[in-house]
Amino acid sequence: MPAELAALVAERVRRQGPLPFDAVVDLALYHPVHGFYGRGRGAGRRSDFLTSPEVGPLFGTVLARAIDSWWAELGRPDPFVVVEAGAGAGALASAVLAAGPVCGPALRYLLVERSEQLRRRTPPRLRLEPPANVLGPPDESEGDRPAGSGEGPLVASLAELPVGPFDGVVLANELLDNLPFRLLQRSGHVWVGSGPQKRDQNVGEGRWDEVRVGEDLTEVLVPAGPDLAVDADRWAPDAPVGGRIPVQPEAAAWVRAALRCLRRGRVVVIDYADTTPNLARRPWSEWVRTYRAHGRGGPPLANLGDQDVTCEVAVDQLGGVRRPDRDRSQAQFLSAHGLDTLVEEGRRIWQERAAIGDLAALAARSRVTEAAALTDPAGLGAFRVVEWELG
Ligand SMILES: C[S@@+](CC[C@H](N)C(=O)[O-])C[C@H]1O[C@@H](n2cnc3c(N)ncnc32)[C@H](O)[C@@H]1O
Repeated sequence: MPAELAALVAERVRRQGPLPFDAVVDLALYHPVHGFYGRGRGAGRRSDFLTSPEVGPLFGTVLARAIDSWWAELGRPDPFVVVEAGAGAGALASAVLAAGPVCGPALRYLLVERSEQLRRRTPPRLRLEPPANVLGPPDESEGDRPAGSGEGPLVASLAELPVGPFDGVVLANELLDNLPFRLLQRSGHVWVGSGPQKRDQNVGEGRWDEVRVGEDLTEVLVPAGPDLAVDADRWAPDAPVGGRIPVQPEAAAWVRAALRCLRRGRVVVIDYADTTPNLARRPWSEWVRTYRAHGRGGPPLANLGDQDVTCEVAVDQLGGVRRPDRDRSQAQFLSAHGLDTLVEEGRRIWQERAAIGDLAALAARSRVTEAAALTDPAGLGAFRVVEWELG
């Protein structure tokens, strides 16, 4: 597979010149035939890496409690729409619905997943409905049955965010780190002249270069366009010479679109994140990472389509869309939504039933080990949960 994508990049570079990083990442991840997600790879024990919902059902059980509390805060609307963006093959949706949230009868759960291969793997137990039945208003000319109140949970799958506005929640776990990004480098030189005469002159102070990708999949530095340079100066004015930053307009656009879906409710983003000034001071190989087959992959421009390429989310850039109302660690978020009670219950059941060793005992023990993984301060527990509230 990598050979096809490398050839595609080379062909585009010959036509358009060195490609921005986001264009290459988009091909590497989402090309419908050769892209990593396009081919249906991704999260899961039998796939490439574990995300919180793939650790086990506990994450979804806590999310179901959170969803119930958000529903109650809105005055128990019916319908109550939960959009899960970047839903993969539906692990989180399955766990949330299996937990039996109290809002169930009002719930319309929409899985949004860009990869057709992954959408096709949504488990049959989720019993997908045609989106029009779930979202309404029904198109009566086609004889669709209107979704009445109290008939939930109704579940549908979409390739893109739905058109709102609705009362509910737009949720994304580990989506934004997978959205293509531009890559910039603070340089100690300015570009002088133009065309073939163009040369760089060291002035010992910072300007911005854009890291682009050449025909042979190597980096090519070009002077950043004026808009990009303004963005970079906005996010990391004090970046050291040689420091790199991601510029993430696609992640910001996603937050804007998610907020637009809602009349009342909240957008919840869960991901590994930092701020742009911090990223500028860290080696970029630390915050652009690749994964495959439950291990780290190669450099980001190697093995295109055969490894995940992710970038830590610059939360300050998301805040440029609208200031978040909350930003806390995943460990704090899970604890605030009942994790500790669930773990205590798990411990108690395990103690009572360990000697019997039945499924209930094993599930209870698993809850305790899952909680440790989900709150690990050196791992998933350090993820940020960023929330924007509306209405
Ligand atoms: C790292 S996976 C996370 C999957 C799942 N949320 C989880 O936590 O296991 C990111 C997913 O987002 C999907 N994705 C990427 N861009 C998307 C977009 N614009 N809309 C919907 N899904 C997208 C990818 O195809 C991939 O399945």
